[in-house]
Amino acid sequence: MTATKNDQFAGALLALKGIHKTYFMDGVNVRALRGVDLAVHKGEFTAIMGASGSGKSTLMNILGCLDRPTKGSYFIDGEDVSTFSKDQLALVRNKKIGFVFQGFNLLSRTSALENVELPMIYAGIHSAERQKRAKEALGAVGLAGRENHHPNQLSGGQQQRVAIARSLVNSPAMILADEPTGNLDTRSSVEIMGIFQNLNSQGITIILITHEADIAEFAKRKILFRDGLMVSDVTNAKQASAAEALKKLPIADLQSDTEDEK
Ligand SMILES: Nc1ncnc2c1ncn2[C@@H]1O[C@H](COP(=O)(O)OP(=O)(O)OP(=O)(O)O)[C@@H](O)[C@H]1O
Ligand SMILES: [Mg+2]
Repeated sequence: MTATKNDQFAGALLALKGIHKTYFMDGVNVRALRGVDLAVHKGEFTAIMGASGSGKSTLMNILGCLDRPTKGSYFIDGEDVSTFSKDQLALVRNKKIGFVFQGFNLLSRTSALENVELPMIYAGIHSAERQKRAKEALGAVGLAGRENHHPNQLSGGQQQRVAIARSLVNSPAMILADEPTGNLDTRSSVEIMGIFQNLNSQGITIILITHEADIAEFAKRKILFRDGLMVSDVTNAKQASAAEALKKLPIADLQSDTEDEK
């Protein structure tokens, strides 16, 4: 079976076909995904919305090779990864996918630089190269000079930027972000969306889950989930510019940016 049966799937970076995910819990089947077909092409920036429990994180876990579907096929770059073993999936994750989560998921006793180095340790990259790339990635998200800060010495927005830098260092084909702005104030949220828009303009594919309609406006495509099904999928003709939106926001909360020592 190939991923090129019909047009939307031709040449897709990601292709989901007939994806079902059923969790079995306390003697009950929970049908979290009930037949999802989705193609995402290189360079897209897609926002996924939907009520709590509609299956968004379940979808993300499958897209990110963290979990396998109960039924259906999943292709990355034309390769069917739904048949892969756990070890093979781990390799795909490390090489192709960057993750960003709502809770940042940084190691707390570890510097920003070391947090960013982590995926490269798994990838077997030697120390000097790791440090060089980690510094570059932190610079790219506006955190040059913060390399030695620990997470509790950084604001929420800065911690999320460390997480984005970490997601970038193995040059992934895509970044998957599950509610990346869920814990952030408005300005930090828009700044994070600005970083995603920059990365996207450099060709990185981004898939982002959000509950906030105004955050979804920064994406090029908007998908809505309901009860485990994709119920709408539209191009966002009026994609908002985070750089423009930032100009209109008051510069409040500068505290954590100006305060160098705590
Ligand atoms: N590991 C699990 N075991 C059993 N049921 C699960 C598991 N993970 C999710 N579910 C169930 O699957 C359904 C979809 O959950 P999912 O986490 O994908 O929703 P979501 O859209 O991400 O919601 P939210 O917006 O609250 O994060 C829910 O009914 C949930 O209770
Ligand atoms: Mg979720």
